[in-house]
Amino acid sequence: KTIYLKDYEQPDYWISETHLTFDLHDDHALVHSRLSVQLNADKHGQALPALMLDGQNLELLSVAIDDEALASSDYQVDANTLRLQPASASFDLAITTRIKPRDNTALEGLYQSGAMFCTQCEAEGFRKITYYLDRPDVMSRFTTTVIAERGDYPVLLSNGNPVASGDHEGGRHWVTWEDPFPKPAYLFALVAGDLCLIQDSFTTMSGREIDLRIYVEPENREQCAHAMDSLKRSMRWDEEVYGREYDLDIFMIVAVNDFNMGAMENKGLNIFNSSCVLAHADTATDLAFQRVEAVVAHEYFHNWSGNRVTCRDWFQLSLKEGFTVLRDSQFSADMNSETVNRIEGVTFLRANQFAEDAGPMAHPVRPDSFIEISNFYTLTVYEKGAEVVRMLHTLLGAEGFRKGTDLYFDRHDGQAVTCDDFVKALEDANGADFTQFKRWYSQAGTPRLAVEGRYDAAAATFSLLFRQSCPPTPGQSEKKPQVIPVRMALLDAQGLEMPLQLADEAQAQGTERVLAVTEAEQLFTFTGISEQPLPSLLRGFSAPVKMTYPYSRDDRVFLAKHDPDGFNRWEASQALAVEILQGLVGIHRAGRPLMLDQRLLDVYRTLLADSTLDPAMVAEMLRLPSEAYLVELADVADIDGIHYVRDWVRQELAVALEAEMWPLYQALNDQVPYSPSAAAVARRSLKNTLLGYLMLCPSGKALDVCVRQFVEANNMTDRQAALVALVNSSYDEQKRAALSDFAERWQSYPLVMDQWFSIQAAASQPGALQRVQELMQHPAFSMRNPNKIRSLIGAFANQNLVNFHSADGSGYRFLADRILQLDPLNPQIAARLLTPLTRWRKYDEARQALMKAELSRIIAAENLSPDVYEVVSKSLV
Ligand code: ARG
Ligand code: ZN
Repeated sequence: KTIYLKDYEQPDYWISETHLTFDLHDDHALVHSRLSVQLNADKHGQALPALMLDGQNLELLSVAIDDEALASSDYQVDANTLRLQPASASFDLAITTRIKPRDNTALEGLYQSGAMFCTQCEAEGFRKITYYLDRPDVMSRFTTTVIAERGDYPVLLSNGNPVASGDHEGGRHWVTWEDPFPKPAYLFALVAGDLCLIQDSFTTMSGREIDLRIYVEPENREQCAHAMDSLKRSMRWDEEVYGREYDLDIFMIVAVNDFNMGAMENKGLNIFNSSCVLAHADTATDLAFQRVEAVVAHEYFHNWSGNRVTCRDWFQLSLKEGFTVLRDSQFSADMNSETVNRIEGVTFLRANQFAEDAGPMAHPVRPDSFIEISNFYTLTVYEKGAEVVRMLHTLLGAEGFRKGTDLYFDRHDGQAVTCDDFVKALEDANGADFTQFKRWYSQAGTPRLAVEGRYDAAAATFSLLFRQSCPPTPGQSEKKPQVIPVRMALLDAQGLEMPLQLADEAQAQGTERVLAVTEAEQLFTFTGISEQPLPSLLRGFSAPVKMTYPYSRDDRVFLAKHDPDGFNRWEASQALAVEILQGLVGIHRAGRPLMLDQRLLDVYRTLLADSTLDPAMVAEMLRLPSEAYLVELADVADIDGIHYVRDWVRQELAVALEAEMWPLYQALNDQVPYSPSAAAVARRSLKNTLLGYLMLCPSGKALDVCVRQFVEANNMTDRQAALVALVNSSYDEQKRAALSDFAERWQSYPLVMDQWFSIQAAASQPGALQRVQELMQHPAFSMRNPNKIRSLIGAFANQNLVNFHSADGSGYRFLADRILQLDPLNPQIAARLLTPLTRWRKYDEARQALMKAELSRIIAAENLSPDVYEVVSKSLV
């Protein structure tokens, strides 16, 4: 059943108070709820409509209104609702349900992860706990009592502050938690388990002392320091940059092993996938450290952008997610290198969100309809949503943006609001008009921006002509022009920025500016331009568009070496590499011999020689565009050609630059004690990028060095990089030895074993599918654990493109089988696994037919979840 944004109506009733008691047992839980319900008089005056409560997979034991038990003839229950007829406009409703957390393999609602109980309620999981108005515009004050056996569950947690506790007979105990802030049910959380506590404190800007607590299973105690440190830095940063102070006396994080997503911002009790909390240098890579920092910040920032101000309905999801992703990426940029951070973000967006925008599931940042909301926790809502808010920041400037967010938080504190309300606050605080800008929320698809420049030496003017368009997406054939902020400069022959003066301006204003392109076709003319300039456009990726400009390869080399903007230097080297790779794919298909354009070598050689550059930046620039990005850029992707050519270019580069790379690798491989500092991370990043290249050289000189790095590394970043290089090499003996040594050493560390699975699943040599099938039999693998599914099956289908797209269709068949196997257990994860199959339009006809055949086989299966049904049915249109 499809739900539409245009059908939104306020609820018929409100719930001012929610009192919950959970009686937890090994094989079931009893949930007693007592709700204070009031008629929504704004909507209904005196009439009393039926009360329709959401509920799924519940065993209803009793219902009472104002302490009078209802007979079963007084209400109706079906698979999704409990319907009853109130007799007054305000009443107490008491409901008891029985649920089976142990059998809850969907990991939504109350479930068991290992030996502990935990919850995941966003978006619509609370209805699997008790009957309720499970929608974000119903905000209620919650009190929660948890009762469980003390020996197995010494720790009992819920939202807010603990207000009472005690013992029951028979070894059971209880704790009552009270959350003073009204909240929607999706922010409810409960945890019960035998957990150890890592404790710290934070003093807020107004001098309040906050008790910070991270709860993990005892064996993970040593892996929490980085998350705690990230939390404290997030709290300080949100005060300094957004003026946001924490509001409860306690802030808790709990790590669980079985979790569908990254983490969840439940009020005062964030629940995390252990992969986003645990980090120790021995077991986690630098990338994993960064991820922990970002996710801890993200969930913490939700306390204001999400919890204090929440969403009116789920179509507004990007209100909290887009804004919060922007906030966490601003934070990460401040904690690390801003440019490198932006490069990583843009690389991810272009390879993945652009592909979503070009596929059958394309949808606007604020979708108009959905069947299953879980399917809309997408890169579009999150990452493109963040780009949209970033553009507002760019257009208003940091100060104007802050005035806008201050007004937003102030005006809407305690409310459930819309994306329009957010934009309105930014407008009102700045006297701005974002009417046209809001098309970014309603139009799907990635806009194209074709730019041309014309220099008129006689008039000393340089004109930029912008033409924008946006391809059709499902349900949207025509698009209107959007507001595209283009941050830019003009460079002279030395690479210096020239003063910028538009034709209608009295004098030059700076050397960098943001042009707001608003028309389908628009011309900007700069005056006083005394020599032919080279434009540096869309700096920092100031809008999520596909921009083209007729740069020559020499122009790109110049920009890669000289653009004062670091991001655009990287962009120029990427674009050069893309162009070269695309050209070679065509040559390879035509059966002609490959030759590497020496300009790429020239850029790389210059990078390697420049000791003043940030090593992390050099590493980024040395990285060729990914296969996934090259597929995204192609109309019909020749996956075998892309893979072959990209590997060939990597090897050519390695051989040509071997002499330059060795001394640099050796200088970086200095055996100093491990440090997590940004500078040390940057050095490891470059060192391991070089190792990857050196291992491709036929000289074989790197093998011993690589094995030594694998054995002697004092951190997981170096060890893993060496393992990746070995696994992707043809040194079979060393590879096998390293893999078994690694598995032996880390078998009791699930997160490390996830790395071990995904490195093998992503290795592109032939036979990958068989290896993946064998690994599914490994004792560390489980179809019940989302991290395992992602690291083995997900890595194969998303990162091993040449094997997944094997022309015999075996990769497709394997994935479809896994989806059908998983759907009855965990529909959310099953639906996510579909993504690679939905991209069938990108491939040749034979592969298209094979992919569609698998989609058809899935949709023909009985009892498909709405999750999988929605994705498959939309993909087959
Ligand atoms: N709000 C959470 C976050 O952004 C994600 C919740 C995902 N839930 C889901 N059903 N997909 O961190
Ligand atoms: Zn979020």
